[in-house]
Amino acid sequence: MSALDASLATWRTVMSQEHVHIPVMVAEVVELLGGSVEADRTAGLIVDATLGAGGHAAHLLESLPGASVLGTDQDPQVLELARERLEPFGDRARLARARISDLSTLLRKLRVEPLAGLLMDLGVSSLQLDRAERGFSFQLDGPLDMRMDPERERTAADIVNRWDESDLADLFYFEGGETRSREVARAVVEARKRTPFRRTVGLALLVEQVLGRRGKAHPATRVFQALRRAVNEEGEELLAGLRAGELFLRPGGVLTVITFHSGEDGVVKRHLAEGARRGVWEVLTPRPLEPSRAELRANPRARSARVRAARRTSEAAEVEG
Ligand SMILES: C[S@@+](CC[C@H](N)C(=O)[O-])C[C@H]1O[C@@H](n2cnc3c(N)ncnc32)[C@H](O)[C@@H]1O
Repeated sequence: MSALDASLATWRTVMSQEHVHIPVMVAEVVELLGGSVEADRTAGLIVDATLGAGGHAAHLLESLPGASVLGTDQDPQVLELARERLEPFGDRARLARARISDLSTLLRKLRVEPLAGLLMDLGVSSLQLDRAERGFSFQLDGPLDMRMDPERERTAADIVNRWDESDLADLFYFEGGETRSREVARAVVEARKRTPFRRTVGLALLVEQVLGRRGKAHPATRVFQALRRAVNEEGEELLAGLRAGELFLRPGGVLTVITFHSGEDGVVKRHLAEGARRGVWEVLTPRPLEPSRAELRANPRARSARVRAARRTSEAAEVEG
């Protein structure tokens, strides 16, 4: 059995137990993307640029019989699981490994038709979060890694052990919203002089010592979110995805973005508003859609999900150099 087969076998066991990624706001996503074609409501190619385990893609393919999906993800492990899940759809589902920032290159290389839809469901999959060895969780002890794409060079440990104190403080504040970021950064820099951070739980314990327990959320939640965003360059990736939407959607095609972070929701909101002023987007969600109470009861991880969408007009995009 190859290493990949062994790892997939473990994943299948895990998935058959409780760690399944439940796709968020499926009905809203299907409705937005399904309405992307006026004359023939179901035809067209939809790119799911954060395929994960293929939950949204499977629902789109089931609900829109004329649509096909090109699913991309930067994580080869989740991509293999999606491949199995989408197999019943035959050649209506194509998969490729790619970062969102590689999408423009990929779509040009594949010479795909102008898109009917582009979906980004940002952030981390439960399949990543619940696997201790991926290093995303402050509750499961694992290496301080957090790379969604294992080919990225920089891990969370590299940042925690190498960045200077003021850069760490800025990161925890701006990317995680940690208001006591300076105290945490100072403690991290002191502690790493004795022993560098290697494990998730070591860092989580230190943050808990500094901040104490307050409220329901673990005190390390914000610091871990900030590190994950930096490791995976999530801000830059989102901007690249928004640009790809403008360039590759056909007139009438719909961009749908799910965020889990108020800063990211703000970026999407401002991008769409600015595009609407230039005439390239018609905003479909003046206010972001939020999960219903029923969804939150069934899937508490959906709590910070926000969906924004816009329809591409026929105005020419600003072509990138
Ligand atoms: C929230 S999950 C998506 C779940 C998926 N919609 C489903 O229903 O199963 C996010 C996925 O996007 C991927 N991802 C996040 N940022 C990415 C990026 N910049 N490029 C490519 N994939 C990315 C992650 O690896 C993860 O599998």
